[in-house]
Amino acid sequence: MPRAKTGQMITVLVAMIPLLGLVLGLLTGRLGAEPVEAITHETGEWALRLLILTLLITPLRQFFGWNALAPYRRTLGLLCFFYAALHFATFLTFDLSWRIDDLLTEIRERPYITVGFFSFMILCALAITSTRGWIKRLGRSWLRLHRLVYLALVLAVVHFLWLVKVDRLEPLVYAAIASALLAWRLPLLFGRRPLTYATLRRPGEKAQKSA
Ligand code: HEM
Repeated sequence: MPRAKTGQMITVLVAMIPLLGLVLGLLTGRLGAEPVEAITHETGEWALRLLILTLLITPLRQFFGWNALAPYRRTLGLLCFFYAALHFATFLTFDLSWRIDDLLTEIRERPYITVGFFSFMILCALAITSTRGWIKRLGRSWLRLHRLVYLALVLAVVHFLWLVKVDRLEPLVYAAIASALLAWRLPLLFGRRPLTYATLRRPGEKAQKSA
């Protein structure tokens, strides 16, 4: 089996550990007095963490030239979608008992649900179109569509910031990481070349040679 495939399988297995923790916690009653709340929080946080990891792949490839990481972007993106879908399904099942009119009211009246929902809609579109068939079918539009992943990240961070009322440190840390990822991306959108480890090292090497 190629090394990338084994690595991707290991990534999926490792990413299932939080889910296993939730299932075991539920079965043994270790999720506390509000198990549904614990599941919503854990699945939401893992969706956000995996989204950040997905978006870290390109800067790592560009900066260090670690191109072997390329296949992991899709794996991590789909894992992010998986946790986001669990997060949404938990809310829909336990908070709303699958009442779609209640969902529409929540989306209309609670801004943090509105932004979370739009973020999830983008993740759905990206997951559906992540196959080879869709990449071929959409051509150049595929790249434009998949840039929406940055909007999904911004909306997910706003969702987190909006719902936390007291200690905002954790969502602020996520906001800082998201800002750094966007800051990396911005010059590339204007056609500038990415900063690389090699270009950072070169001036020092020249200085050494001339010394
Ligand atoms: C249909 C879309 C969504 C709905 C209905 C939804 C709903 C919720 C709810 C009800 C909570 C708990 C609020 C509370 O504690 O009072 C929550 C928390 C959270 N959600 Fe979402 N969410 C959605 C999409 C997303 C997406 C797409 C992400 C990330 C990619 C996300 C990340 C989070 C995070 C990080 C938390 C906070 C977890 C914590 O407190 O530790 N959510 N969401």
